[in-house]
Amino acid sequence: MDTIETLLTRKSSPRLNEPSPSKEELELIFQTALRAPDHASLKPWKFIKVSGEGREKLARASLSALKKIDAKKAQESEEKILNAPYRAPLIIVVVSSIKEHHIVPEIEQILSAGAAAQNMLIAAHSMGYSGIWRTGLISFNKEISKSYGLDDNDIVIGYLYIGTPEKKMTLPIKSNTNDFVINWD
Ligand SMILES: Cc1cc2nc3c(=O)[nH]c(=O)nc-3n(C[C@H](O)[C@H](O)[C@H](O)COP(=O)(O)O)c2cc1C
Repeated sequence: MDTIETLLTRKSSPRLNEPSPSKEELELIFQTALRAPDHASLKPWKFIKVSGEGREKLARASLSALKKIDAKKAQESEEKILNAPYRAPLIIVVVSSIKEHHIVPEIEQILSAGAAAQNMLIAAHSMGYSGIWRTGLISFNKEISKSYGLDDNDIVIGYLYIGTPEKKMTLPIKSNTNDFVINWD
């Protein structure tokens, strides 16, 4: 697929099945993440690849973290949290791994992880897969990081669910550029 066409046709899919990216394709997807813009080359990212039985591990770790964050919410959402990872054959947990730096603030490092996430969604789409970036109750919290065995400076910024869409994809609706661009000519 041509690059512009890939960017213009990417669309999220809530329900994803097999096939999912092969080992070789996944390696390429991760390589695109590692080419995200990165001030001072801090490489402020980590990625947890979750598939197969790993989805149960993710479900249990997420629930255990949510119990610590908000016990009531955990009780109300238990089923949702436990089922969530089964919405796709592959999940990439995107982690902003914040480094102490005298010039590069946290926000820039989080944006860099966001760019890495978008690169992966685009790469997967260019290979014929689809995905969706989710956050929900189990992001942006230290308890989540602890529960996933991450470090104190690691923040989960999203979950990329990746696979083949359950339904045939339609093209995205085109927005009007003029609604968003301010011209200083
Ligand atoms: C940081 C971030 C977090 C998101 N979290 C969720 C989420 O938890 N649940 C959800 O349904 N969509 C979430 N979305 C939106 C979807 O990923 C998707 O962009 C949206 O459904 C619009 O679809 P499109 O990508 O086809 O335009 C999130 C997007 C971003 C950028």
